[in-house]
Amino acid sequence: MQIIVLGAGAGGGFPQWNCNCPHCRAVRRGSGELTPRTQSSIAISADGERWLLCNASPDIRAQIAATPELQPRHGVRDSGIAEVLLVDAQIDHVSGLLSLREGCPLDVWCTPSVHRDLSTGFPLFPMLGHWQGGLHWRPIELDEAHPETTFRVPSCPGLVFTAVALHSNAPPYSPRRGWPSTGDNLGLFIEDGVSGTSLFYAPGLGEMTPGVHDYLARADCVLVDGTLWHDDELPRLGVGRATGAEMGHLALAGEHGLIRELDALPATTRRILIHINNTNPILDAASAERAVLDGHGIEVAVDGLRLTL
Ligand code: MLT
Ligand code: MN
Ligand code: ZN
Repeated sequence: MQIIVLGAGAGGGFPQWNCNCPHCRAVRRGSGELTPRTQSSIAISADGERWLLCNASPDIRAQIAATPELQPRHGVRDSGIAEVLLVDAQIDHVSGLLSLREGCPLDVWCTPSVHRDLSTGFPLFPMLGHWQGGLHWRPIELDEAHPETTFRVPSCPGLVFTAVALHSNAPPYSPRRGWPSTGDNLGLFIEDGVSGTSLFYAPGLGEMTPGVHDYLARADCVLVDGTLWHDDELPRLGVGRATGAEMGHLALAGEHGLIRELDALPATTRRILIHINNTNPILDAASAERAVLDGHGIEVAVDGLRLTL
């Protein structure tokens, strides 16, 4: 299986358009220790030809421009993006669908909860119905009765996908914000049926549960939530009121932080952080926090990172 990190940043990206913090200022100036990152998305392929877009970022146009694999190759209208899968209905993961409208009809895999938000509060499904057949919903059957479900997608023959319900949060515009239901957020365990290798992808991981821990421990590579260093990072910096726990992102530091959890994985597991918020000190490659990650064998994803598993 092949994976391309299209966007390693969280909502807002890095630098964020309206942020004048020292990091955003420095990356705008082009400081060597800081690398810009677009908003959260990866692409997955079994054959390197057809790609499943996991999350449609508001930066999709720039991401396609930076990724030859996704650009048109055959015929007058074409794309390497064969279908789309959404892990939640957050703006940074879905609003790129608006920019893909010229490619409709487009198959979009998501849970009933995500489909509900994208049919009401952020009505992408009904809206894009006005473009050549619109979005065709491919349900991921994750609900209270089914916290896990295994399925295959046509563009990735040989890959077996398991969606795992995560404790995180519904988007700020959702009626379920603060009271998420099963299916509002998922992690993806993807296994290559030929090579036997596997990836666990979870850009929005609010809480560690025994079930999630088991999937992390089974995967050869984990690509997981690196949004925040401190749970109270936004209030500390005076840029927001919400804590990580409230947003549905488990912070890296602290006694029950994600670094501790990643330490418990088998020594051979490749650990990579993704969905890094512009407030996170690990964005500075020369920071003390990045040295801590190095010490734990944890990598920080950048746009364009390619993995072959
Ligand atoms: C999140 O990951 O919590 C959201 O993308 C935040 C946002 O919508 O800005
Ligand atoms: Mn996000
Ligand atoms: Zn900033």
